[in-house]
Amino acid sequence: MEEVRQVKQRILSGIQPTGVFTLGNYMGAITNWEQMQEDYDCAYFIADLHSLTVRQEPAQLRKHTMEAFALLLACGIDPERSLVFVQSHVHTHAEMSWILNCSALMGELGRMTQFKDKSAKHADNINAGLFTYPVLMAGDILLYQADYVPVGADQKQHLEFTRDLAERFNHFYGNVFKVPDGYFPKAGARVMSLQDPTSKMSKSDPNPNAYISILDDRNVIINKFKRAVTDSETEIVYREGKDGINNLITIYSVMTGKSFAEIEKEFEGKGYGVFKLAVGEAVADKLQPIRDEFNRLIADKKYIEETMAVGAERAYKISRRTLDKAKKKVGLLMP
Ligand code: TRP
Repeated sequence: MEEVRQVKQRILSGIQPTGVFTLGNYMGAITNWEQMQEDYDCAYFIADLHSLTVRQEPAQLRKHTMEAFALLLACGIDPERSLVFVQSHVHTHAEMSWILNCSALMGELGRMTQFKDKSAKHADNINAGLFTYPVLMAGDILLYQADYVPVGADQKQHLEFTRDLAERFNHFYGNVFKVPDGYFPKAGARVMSLQDPTSKMSKSDPNPNAYISILDDRNVIINKFKRAVTDSETEIVYREGKDGINNLITIYSVMTGKSFAEIEKEFEGKGYGVFKLAVGEAVADKLQPIRDEFNRLIADKKYIEETMAVGAERAYKISRRTLDKAKKKVGLLMP
């Protein structure tokens, strides 16, 4: 019998270097990214071009980009198995986004909720990049002919837009892009702010007590959990309306692998103080090896830079095929 070589499907995702990743990024995205390396051909990148849509301090952005890259590696993204790179190191992304811009419609971009939110938040800097942000993102995805794109709820609309744009382009110019699907892992826990458990934990929150950075010290982590906002009841149960406690139960569950029922039992009759301490310790224990590995990597600048260069080179080779195809199809004269 002839053997058919099974080619793995491609997963692609990006994360912005706007600060050290939070526990939310880790639990909601990066642990899944790490696990997906088993079954998929994965591409992960630092979306530094996207970060420019909001004003950045240049030296900070550079630092954060190095750190974000080292963090991906420290979290188990393996550059031997997966394609890992920095977006701006691969110029096909910016080029692709121009071509796609000419197929994207003002109307659909104006309907993007992230654009509306960010415009309201940065009213003094509603730049054109903020508006065409989803087009750059579509290019990131389409260049690599990705099958699946794991994204959080906040990026779902951008993925829908990517699919529409790919279909439109393919319709007008002939088949160039694979139309990607979203990938929404069952275990993708949504981690909420420790200070306002009705909103998502965010690394750009002005109040550092609202989030756990995955590089926070053990004591800092424990203190932030001690101060976590909860309700005025005493029972540790997962129930509608107990947003703070629900969030802590979710975090503890992911950290320890225990079910909600087991956790409720474990803390029956114990106060919030005891529970908060247990959550803080569980998180600190889990993040310790990542922090150690990060510290080792970030001290080895040469290794990071070499790994970035290898990633960029490989990414360029793959993405150039799609870009050239698109250029030909739209009628650009190839040199
Ligand atoms: N916009 C994404 C975010 O902020 C990051 C991103 C950029 C991305 N390009 C992408 C995610 C391509 C998935 C695929 O979360």
